[in-house]
Amino acid sequence: MAILETKHLIKHFDGVYAVNKLSLSFEPGRITGIIGPNGSGKSTLVNILTGLISPNDGEIIISGEKLTKIMPHYVPFLGMTRTFQDVRLFEQMPVLDNILVVLTERSIWPALFERHTRFHLDKAEAVLKQVGLWEKRDELARNLSYGQRKLLEIARVLAMSHSGTGDLEIVLFDEPFAGLFPEMIKTVSDVMRELRAQGKAVILIEHNMELIRELSDYLYVLDSGELLAEGKPEEVLARKDVIEAYLGE
Ligand SMILES: Nc1ncnc2c1ncn2[C@@H]1O[C@H](COP(=O)(O)OP(=O)(O)OP(=O)(O)O)[C@@H](O)[C@H]1O
Ligand SMILES: [Mg+2]
Repeated sequence: MAILETKHLIKHFDGVYAVNKLSLSFEPGRITGIIGPNGSGKSTLVNILTGLISPNDGEIIISGEKLTKIMPHYVPFLGMTRTFQDVRLFEQMPVLDNILVVLTERSIWPALFERHTRFHLDKAEAVLKQVGLWEKRDELARNLSYGQRKLLEIARVLAMSHSGTGDLEIVLFDEPFAGLFPEMIKTVSDVMRELRAQGKAVILIEHNMELIRELSDYLYVLDSGELLAEGKPEEVLARKDVIEAYLGE
């Protein structure tokens, strides 16, 4: 059973169809890959699903509930989180605080009176150690290297999945591996497998075909905003039209 579906989703910018009639389906406990040449609509799709952009037409169905539009502040309550192609962090905060903010209460009154408990600190320590950033816990986020910034975004997702509220169901990764060193790639791959094992629906946008082949259980290929192909990665990646869509860039 799908936890997230899109039906006939459309988004155009001044006549350019960034997303065109996309009907996709994402299941829990699966990594679903989305590939496609530059400008094929991958990030636009994620931006629609996380409420940064409103679609012109179509539906989004989350846990059986139909939505024509998603409000950004409502995204956590829909059990969703994402990472950005151009990493976004709380730049002026230390690494540790970037994790603590997602572990603590999201509503204002409890947050005002909340102390960071041992429980939160233990979780934060665990996820920062897992991605190899514990030594950097007091550093401001803006001082991290590019790869470390991406790892901090991933640690934040992990923290949400560990937060104990059990409400994170869908995780969208927009090119999480771009610019990472091999040992970092291994860390991020392991996080994705862990989220899958926890039963989350993982959505992975990625240009590295080796990683897509290795990690994804199901694959969608976009081309000019439209669905070009879907299926098992090994079958889809062998298709002539898919190879041509990439080579034709
Ligand atoms: N805010 C916007 N205003 C106008 N056009 C946009 C906007 N956002 C995206 N587009 C256009 O929509 C199309 C899809 O862009 P999108 O960023 O979704 O592609 P992508 O598949 O994520 O590409 P990449 O692999 O380079 O990240 C492109 O033609 C892009 O120029
Ligand atoms: Mg993109």
